[in-house]
Amino acid sequence: MSRFTPEFLDEIRARLPVSEVVGRRVKLKKQGREWAGLSPFNKEKTASFFVNDAKGFYHCFSSGKHGDIFRFLMETEGVSFPEAVERLAGQAGLEIPKSAPEEQERAERRRTLNDVMDMAAKYFEAALAGKAGQAARAYLDRRGLTDATRAEFRLGYAPNDRGGLKKHLAAQNVPEEAMIACGLIIHGEDISEPFDRFRDRIMFPIHDARGRVIAFGGRAMQAEAQAKYLNSPETALFHKGNVLFNHHRARPSAHQAGTVIAVEGYMDVIAVAQAGIANAVATCGTALTENQLELLWRMGEEPVLCFDGDKAGQRAAHRAVDVALPHLKPGRSLRFAFLPDGQDPDDLIKNAGRGAFEMALQQARPLVDVLWERELDAGPADTPERRAALEKRIGDLVRGIRDETVRRHYQTAMAEKLQIFAPPPINAPVPFERRGRAPGERRPRTGYRAEPLRASQTLRQSASLMGTRIKVREAAMLISLIRHPKLLDRHAETLSEVDLTSPDLVRLRGAAIDAAAHGEADSPELMEAAIARSGLSAALDRAEAALTPGTWWAGSHADDLDAETGFLQALALHQKAHALHKELRAAEAALGLDTSEENFSRLQDIQLQLNRVEGTEASIEGFGAASGRPARSF
Ligand code: UTP
Ligand code: MN
Repeated sequence: MSRFTPEFLDEIRARLPVSEVVGRRVKLKKQGREWAGLSPFNKEKTASFFVNDAKGFYHCFSSGKHGDIFRFLMETEGVSFPEAVERLAGQAGLEIPKSAPEEQERAERRRTLNDVMDMAAKYFEAALAGKAGQAARAYLDRRGLTDATRAEFRLGYAPNDRGGLKKHLAAQNVPEEAMIACGLIIHGEDISEPFDRFRDRIMFPIHDARGRVIAFGGRAMQAEAQAKYLNSPETALFHKGNVLFNHHRARPSAHQAGTVIAVEGYMDVIAVAQAGIANAVATCGTALTENQLELLWRMGEEPVLCFDGDKAGQRAAHRAVDVALPHLKPGRSLRFAFLPDGQDPDDLIKNAGRGAFEMALQQARPLVDVLWERELDAGPADTPERRAALEKRIGDLVRGIRDETVRRHYQTAMAEKLQIFAPPPINAPVPFERRGRAPGERRPRTGYRAEPLRASQTLRQSASLMGTRIKVREAAMLISLIRHPKLLDRHAETLSEVDLTSPDLVRLRGAAIDAAAHGEADSPELMEAAIARSGLSAALDRAEAALTPGTWWAGSHADDLDAETGFLQALALHQKAHALHKELRAAEAALGLDTSEENFSRLQDIQLQLNRVEGTEASIEGFGAASGRPARSF
């Protein structure tokens, strides 16, 4: 409920015309019944921002923004609604109404409850320092907590006494209802004498974001105790799903570090802090909630969640993935650190030192991987139906991401991962027999990789669709090096890695590279002879026949320099096309997961780029001059 009544807001609106409020910031010109000016939201040259006093609104056509005087202040000065109201009420000469009496009472009550909680914290601290706290101090000694740490976290001890805290608070005039409202006292119809909730426990105060004590966690010291930790119940002060343990202390250092770490337990936060890492928080014994996630994201774009490396830790991580998924934003995600051997951060730091913990943090894995592995591990994907189920599950999960851009990128990422189920590539023909080094062979074999790389799926498909048709660009690249074999010294390695779709070209390449590697192709004539010896003269003819006027630079008559330039340009285009083909495949798969408009237009965009690349030919200033051609672009 707003503390301002609609009548009060109308009163302010009646006294302050929109043009007056806006006019302080935007130069307005009267235009008929309205005022016009340059948008305060966008840079513009012609006025598209209008103010209508009669209607009490402004409207900005360039940004689509629209609102009243309060909204204008919020939009242009970033103030909150109450602040906007307060400022405009002041300008209108109106008194801010006192907040409603119930509201005031509630605020007062909260304040007193906070006071009571603080009194309780002091009582527990004193008890830890006193005679009753001896065993508790010994316990904390055993756990290696220094005095400074105990003081910083305001650790305490609740004595083994049913009425200790109650008497202490009563002596300071705290009414019993307040103790009950704070969750410090257990009462009930069948309980004649209400008694202290926390007895014989180490006390961990839980603070709100402003550092006020709002709850406690109490740890039993005996291993066999019924509940290891007992927490405050939900109260007016404490809603455990909205609270992060250590929030107020972690926040400044999280801002400084640019990241925040979430661990599972109070003791973990404390041990980590004692080791010098101040930006850690914990939930209060529950799974991470959406609200807690929002709090984490306010401290850093990619909080690191730490979990034990065991099954339970993994389950908790998977729950966190599901909570986070709908709320991912560009740049905003989570990372997951799994600690070794089922250790928690406290154990790990004790056993292996701070460095081991930091190492685990550094190795934190992105959300997308944790999600993918979870789905992959859910069951075997050994039949088409099971693979389809996996794909569908992932599609459903990804559709749950509300942000459109993140969703699209998840679709692409998942589609790429699903490619592991694509059929394995068929081996491309091996271009030539690899001979062993013959006795007395003069030159050792060079490191040229003459075998073709495995052809990509799309290229393979298009090759089988088109049979052995030779592609112009591929032919030109190969011919340019065959007809200008000097260039092979520099480019054989690169050439060996190009995907070639025609078996003719693959064989020719093998022969050419092999000849060059054996010093049998130091001139174009020697190269031609070597190709003839390999029985590939006809293949060479076919390849040359595929050349077009646009690829003149590959032929015998072109200058070496132009041949090299042409080769490198063709290579760049080829690689670009190859990358686009890969993107195209991912986009097609994404469209298969989700037939959304964005996925479709992305596919179209890639196809367009691909067409453009395929249509481009060498076009460099001055290209061809060395071969006696007029300098012009192609
Ligand atoms: P853990 O069982 O991991 O305990 O519970 P811990 O934090 O490592 O504590 P130590 O090292 O044994 O002292 C993790 C968190 O779960 C909640 C607490 O918030 C605890 O910090 N918890 C655990 C409970 O609320 N109740 C329990 O009985 C146990
Ligand atoms: Mn522990």
